[in-house]
Amino acid sequence: MMKRDKFIIQGLGNKKSLSGKIRVNGAKNAVLPVMASSVLFKDGFKIKNVPLIEDLNRLDEIFKGLGVEMIKQLDGEYFINTTKINSVEIEEEASKRMRASIIFTGPILARFGELIFPHPGGCVIGARPIDLFLEGFEKMGAKVKHNDGKYFIKTKDGKLKGTKIFFKIPSVTATETFIMAGILAEGKTILKNVAIEPEIISLIEWLNDCGAKIKGVGTPVLEIEGGSLLEANDKVYETIPDRLEAGSFLILGALCASDLEISNCNPSHLEIVIEMLKDSGVDIEVGKDYLKVNNKNLKNYKSFSIKTHEYPGFPTDLQSPTVVFLTQSQGESLVFETIFEGRLNYTSDLVKMGADIKMWDSHRATIKGPKQLKGCELEGPDIRTGFAFVIAALVAEKESIITNVYYIDRGYGSIEKRLFKIGADIKRVKE
Ligand code: EPZ
Repeated sequence: MMKRDKFIIQGLGNKKSLSGKIRVNGAKNAVLPVMASSVLFKDGFKIKNVPLIEDLNRLDEIFKGLGVEMIKQLDGEYFINTTKINSVEIEEEASKRMRASIIFTGPILARFGELIFPHPGGCVIGARPIDLFLEGFEKMGAKVKHNDGKYFIKTKDGKLKGTKIFFKIPSVTATETFIMAGILAEGKTILKNVAIEPEIISLIEWLNDCGAKIKGVGTPVLEIEGGSLLEANDKVYETIPDRLEAGSFLILGALCASDLEISNCNPSHLEIVIEMLKDSGVDIEVGKDYLKVNNKNLKNYKSFSIKTHEYPGFPTDLQSPTVVFLTQSQGESLVFETIFEGRLNYTSDLVKMGADIKMWDSHRATIKGPKQLKGCELEGPDIRTGFAFVIAALVAEKESIITNVYYIDRGYGSIEKRLFKIGADIKRVKE
């Protein structure tokens, strides 16, 4: 049963009164594929700097459904050993609530030669088809059957066959899935037009450290030599910092803080966002593993236009926080969301708060600013828009209520405690 907690937020009415330091957690989108990769190992391994977020509970449910357990050792440290897996079915409830459950399909099918999973659910940002996955498994010699909302996939003789796959879209989780499928396939797998997000680079480095043979890291073409189960041999995976948390906090700091230090992050994963905010007039100090926003000399930011694009282009996951920023910037801007057809649906809520946003189609919106926002009741449809509404509520005058906080908890651990510490008046009301 999904919790229906709420946030009650008192708006700052454009006063930049937050201040202090906020630490960035480990990246959700790095932990998910590395945890799924445990299915490819003959031994267990430890993962550190794991964010305490709702998606961790979904991971736990998926592993329990497979007959194994993710063991929490310390805060942020987990141990996983999948040698005793006794099922090839991905748990339905968890899969319905987390699209990324699909990353388990490659490792399970590669190791056991069969797989059962439901059509995954998750963030409501578009249709989110899975054709790249089903076509890829068929190209690797598997047979796909579908009935009653579940997929039944089987290989002929228990093994996937290495092959060449050209992704018609550089999908992040499809890239991760077929990298892992190729590791236990017979022969070589060549993947073309792959995604190159930092979380994928980190996954490949981890897998190669543990015996995989993956060539081409960071380029659009990967070559994976099929082999046997991997071995961690007591190596530990250290989760990379979450560039989406860091970017979200940077935008929050620019709009609501006199000064804000964003620690334990990797600015090199956020170059385009930092550059565009700096060009807009935000005073950002870029350190090796921190960012500092300084708003001592208050001035209006200049509007700018964005077009979301696969990494290293402008991240679709920071589109909604950036739109909130643009409602407060001087001038008119165009936002072109090229990745998901449903990821601008939330703008009607910002208009309800007083923003001047015009939708041209499901991919394009123009924003005129600055416009004063006033608090109201908001429901976040996905993780990142949920946080964008927190930023909008803090920018606005008066009180806002944000429902469906479950989505925010999926990607931002203990967020109300972390924001309270830098001066935000935000309370969680448990349902
Ligand atoms: C990953 O989702 C991220 N999730 C998303 O972050 C992120 O928004 C997205 O990549 C884009 O950067 C994780 O890494 C766990 P895609 P993913 O497949 O892999 C289409 C967050 O908030 N497509 O790269 O599911 C798809 O519809 C989440 O942390 C197909 O057409 O996204 C989309 O238009 C939200 N067929 C485009 O590709 C397929 O089989 C890119 O999606 C698969 C995808």
